[in-house]
Amino acid sequence: MLEVSHLSKVFVSGKNKVKAVDDVSFVVNRGEIVGLLGPNGAGKTTTIKSVLGITRPSAGSIKVGGFDPFAEPSKALSLVAAVLEGSRNIYWRMTTWENIVFFAGIHGVSHKIEKNYFDHLIETFKLVDKRSTEVRQLSQGMKQKVAICCALVKKTPLVFLDEPTVGLDIETSYELRGILKELAATEARTMVVSSHDMAVIQDICQRVIIMSGGRVIADDKIDDLLAVFRSRNYKIAIGKVLDNDVVEHLRKRFNDVEVQLRERKTNITINLPSAGDLYALMDFLREHNIDLETINQQDPDLEKAFVALVRKERERCNGNS
Ligand SMILES: Nc1ncnc2c1ncn2[C@@H]1O[C@H](COP(=O)(O)OP(=O)(O)O)[C@@H](O)[C@H]1O
Ligand SMILES: [Mg+2]
Repeated sequence: MLEVSHLSKVFVSGKNKVKAVDDVSFVVNRGEIVGLLGPNGAGKTTTIKSVLGITRPSAGSIKVGGFDPFAEPSKALSLVAAVLEGSRNIYWRMTTWENIVFFAGIHGVSHKIEKNYFDHLIETFKLVDKRSTEVRQLSQGMKQKVAICCALVKKTPLVFLDEPTVGLDIETSYELRGILKELAATEARTMVVSSHDMAVIQDICQRVIIMSGGRVIADDKIDDLLAVFRSRNYKIAIGKVLDNDVVEHLRKRFNDVEVQLRERKTNITINLPSAGDLYALMDFLREHNIDLETINQQDPDLEKAFVALVRKERERCNGNS
């Protein structure tokens, strides 16, 4: 459905050059729900705008359903709908229903034929009682819901949602995540959802492409990504308070260690990237005559995986420069 190959984008303003996207490649297959996850400034929006033919890439190629959005814009863009971050392209003086009919119409989708689908969307997005309300009177969250509906009614096989929950309060964001999750499960469409918030991606998507500093640093099924981290994070309880110099030693010897000294015990949380590291930890404890009480693999969450990957990539970049 979508093929991005060696995409790069450099923004030049005066003497400043920003490499917003740096040699990004990925493929999205038909029917996939893919997350584009990355901290602010990672290059997510620039990547999406390139696919939509809004931002011209400095290098690389893009194929939407086999068509280049710059060489054959009408063919490529007839396959895509998008809600971009912060710009809700809906008409504030028109009602929810009028907006939906209008945006469907410009994509050649008739509201007479598709009335049931439109109604279904309005219901799914809990906008039934806002159907005849002018959009300008709606809350931020409802405006966002209408904007997403207006993208969906175009019935394109590919849909982009750029930061769909940004700027919403926690409750509304949570509600929208639920709706998008339901939608992802019921619509046989290809969706790309970008967010800086892993909870959003973890909720909605099966696969995640993690971006940082303009580059793709991971592209994997979320479950597989979590499985990797599941085997790496350990929680260790020791039945005595460790001496400061031993704690110092431990911190020097292992990269990612958290030590909590309690009244008569010590809790250690440690990230051990390879099996060898686990043996090294055992050796360390033995050398210092420390008895283990318990050792547990910790439940992973995407947030930890994400933070660890981004940190590693930043260290790699700092090392290079
Ligand atoms: N039009 C632009 N002109 C100059 N720099 C830009 C422009 N758009 C984005 N950037 C820069 O490119 C980088 C990536 O931005 P963006 O794609 O918006 O990231 P994200 O969506 O992941 O937050 C940032 O450093 C941003 O400041
Ligand atoms: Mg963005």
